[in-house]
Amino acid sequence: MSLQPFLDRLDQLQSDAQNAFDGAADADALEAARVTFLGAKNGQFKDVQKMLGGIEPADKRAAGMRLNDVKQAIHTAFETAQSQLGGGGSSQIEPGFDPSLPGRRPRLGHIHPITQTIDHLTEIMGRMGFEVAEGPEVEDPFHNFVALNIPEDHPARDPLDNFYLATAGTAVDIGEGDALLRSQTSTVQIRVMQERQNSAPGQPIRIISLGRVYRPDAPDATHFPMFHQMEGLFVDEHVTMANLKTVLRVFANNYLGDDVEIRFRPSFFPFTEPSVEVDFLWNGTWIEFGGAGMVDPNVFEAVGYDPEKVSGFAFGLGVERLCMRRHGITDIRDLYSGDLRFLQQF
Ligand code: PHE
Repeated sequence: MSLQPFLDRLDQLQSDAQNAFDGAADADALEAARVTFLGAKNGQFKDVQKMLGGIEPADKRAAGMRLNDVKQAIHTAFETAQSQLGGGGSSQIEPGFDPSLPGRRPRLGHIHPITQTIDHLTEIMGRMGFEVAEGPEVEDPFHNFVALNIPEDHPARDPLDNFYLATAGTAVDIGEGDALLRSQTSTVQIRVMQERQNSAPGQPIRIISLGRVYRPDAPDATHFPMFHQMEGLFVDEHVTMANLKTVLRVFANNYLGDDVEIRFRPSFFPFTEPSVEVDFLWNGTWIEFGGAGMVDPNVFEAVGYDPEKVSGFAFGLGVERLCMRRHGITDIRDLYSGDLRFLQQF
C-alpha cells in the first residue's frame, strides 16, 4: 500500500472520531463512540493500525509518525468531550465521588449534664408552682450575709472561706461593701423579697433559683470551687414545716424515684429557724443533699416583711450532688474537666 491513501484514511478517521465525540449527547453515547474508534478489539483505529504492515518500507517511518499523531489527537478529542460532558450538567458526578458512601454527619453540640439537670429540676418544681428567679454571681455583703442574718464577725464571712474580689490588695467596693462571688444562692431569697415588696406586695412567693456559687475548696471527688445550688423560697401566711417536708419529698420522688424517703436532721443556719439538714434515702443509704428551714424572723425584718403576718420556708440543695446520684457519677471533677468522652454519655 502506498503512503497517500493511508494518510487519507488517517485524516478521515480523525475527523470521524472528532465528530462522533463532539456529537455525543451524554456519557453513554460518548462511551459508545469511544468503543467505535478506540476499542481495543474492533475499534476503527486498530483497523487502520493493522494497515501499517502493508506500507512500503521506505514510507513506514512517515506513516508510523502520522499514525501516532492521529492516535494522540483522537485521545485528546475524547478527553475533551468527556470533561465537557462532566462539567456541564448538574447531574454529572465528579470522578472519584462515590454516592453510595454514607454522608458525613455534622458534629452536633451537646447540653452539659448540669444544664440538663437544671432544666429537669426546673420542670419538676414548676409543676408544684415554683417559678424561676435569678440573681447575680457577683454580690455585695448585704445580700450574701447581712440580710441573711450573718453578722460582721461571723466566721462564714472569713476571707479564707470566700472569693472576695480584690485587685492588687484592694477590695472591690460595689456600693455596699466588699464585693464577692456569692457563696450561696440564698442571696436570691433577699433579692426576690425586696423586689416583690414593690411589684406584688402581700402576694405569696413561690420561687426557685438555680445557679453557680463559689467557695475556695480544694477540688476532690466531692468538692469543687464552683458548683450549683437550687434555692427554694415559699412565703405566705401559715406556711409550716410540714409544707417544706412535703415539697421536698415530692421533689425527691420525682427526681430520684418513688421509693426515695426524706429525713430532716436538726441543724443551724443563721437565716432559718428551725434549721435542718435534708437527707434522702437513696439505694439504702442516707445522703445529705442540702439545708432547709423556716425563714428566720430577722430575715423577714431585713427586707421589710412582718414576721407576725407571714411565714415561709427556704431550702438549698446541691445540684451536682443530685445529678451525680441520678447518673452514678462518682467524681465531681469529671463534670468540669471538659473531657467530651465523659460528657457525651449524658
Ligand atoms: N444556703 C445554705 C448553704 O449553702 C443552704 C440553705 C438554704 C439552708 C436555704 C437553709 C435554707 O449551705
